[in-house]
Amino acid sequence: MTFLDLDEPIVNASGTFDAIAARRAFGDALLERFPFAAYVTKTVTIAPRQGNPPPRLYELPAGLMNSIGLPNKGLDGFLAEDLPKLAELPVPLIVNVMGSKREDVARLVAAFAERDEVAALELNVSCPNVKTGLIMGADPGELAGLLDAVRPQTDKPLIVKLTPNCASPADVAAAAQDHGADAVSLINTLRGMAMHPRRAGEPWLGGGTGGVSGPAVRAVALAQVREVRSRVRIPIVGMGGIASGRDALEFLAAGAVAVALGTVLFADPGAPDRVRGELDEELRARGFSSPTQATGLAHVGREQVADKDVTFPLIDTRAGGGVPAEVIAHGAAFSSFERGHGVDEGVVIDLCVGGVENADAFVAIHKDVPGTDRVLRDFKKESVERPLHPVVDKDGVHIADVVPDSI
Ligand SMILES: Cc1cc2nc3c(=O)[nH]c(=O)nc-3n(C[C@H](O)[C@H](O)[C@H](O)COP(=O)(O)O)c2cc1C
Repeated sequence: MTFLDLDEPIVNASGTFDAIAARRAFGDALLERFPFAAYVTKTVTIAPRQGNPPPRLYELPAGLMNSIGLPNKGLDGFLAEDLPKLAELPVPLIVNVMGSKREDVARLVAAFAERDEVAALELNVSCPNVKTGLIMGADPGELAGLLDAVRPQTDKPLIVKLTPNCASPADVAAAAQDHGADAVSLINTLRGMAMHPRRAGEPWLGGGTGGVSGPAVRAVALAQVREVRSRVRIPIVGMGGIASGRDALEFLAAGAVAVALGTVLFADPGAPDRVRGELDEELRARGFSSPTQATGLAHVGREQVADKDVTFPLIDTRAGGGVPAEVIAHGAAFSSFERGHGVDEGVVIDLCVGGVENADAFVAIHKDVPGTDRVLRDFKKESVERPLHPVVDKDGVHIADVVPDSI
């Protein structure tokens, strides 16, 4: 895989799997069969934090709400006590950090920049900037300022963990990309609250409000991953309610290159192996030989190649409008493109995909969508080989081959 060279696409969501406690419980067996392709730590702050007063959890009909409040040992405690233990894990270590001042985040990043044990940093930006009062990850300008302070501190990959609690996560993701982030992860929890059952008008959670996670947020997360993917080219780690291989596949199709499991781990500690097995089956059933082939399938229309000074539609799926969003084409990485038309319920669908083999995979993923089989049959009948047009960036570096009339 391209993202951090992970062997497979499943990692843990920050704060939902305590690898040190798991090692205590399972001993070296944990190292022999570590459940994730990379380990993401709970958020580390400069100063130690106690976290929020109890109660800290509230169960929802389809999820969980927490107001844990990021208890942690602080930077010095983490470096002295936790890092040596986490360095023994057999997978890349991603340290999640947060600060309420840009300088604090820069200091945290600089401290980990020197540590060979750390493969990458994840910035938890769901925190207000004490100077501006703005949530760092809720405002593109605020995030740009943060990255300008942080980026020079390290050459390690920086992953910005986006918050769903803002007007436009895609705008924030674009700012992250433009200001040097190597990847984005999303979503963090959605803000919610629960009323106290006996004390009228009072919140149940000690922290007042909490973060909603689990299946309840999955549809929101999926939409945000897809929207972010349509704006940025840096890798996306998708999360939010993923509980099955099918869920994982959907996040990949929406544009993620890797997925994280969080709340599901509390209900099913065996979820990593189960989801991995289910995902393999889902991929196999659709003719994919690797998860990356499923990445970005759910993208319709124009793609932008960031940093390349060139914009072109890699795929042109529409003729006459009204095409169901499920009708998708996927190209770029494939050497031959074919083009054809299908008619479904009177709507002309213009497909341009990287080879019929890929079209089969695309249709397989949407086999439940009425008419898809018929569209593919027509498509295959009418498809013709077209010569490819190489697209180069401003320095003459080859980016992709596209069908000429889709440029
Ligand atoms: C109990 C709990 C603790 C969490 N702690 C953190 C944390 O320390 N840092 C962070 O960035 N996200 C934290 N999160 C958010 C998760 O990493 C994840 O973004 C979110 O829960 C959505 O994924 P899920 O629905 O699969 O849990 C926490 C979530 C839960 C449920």
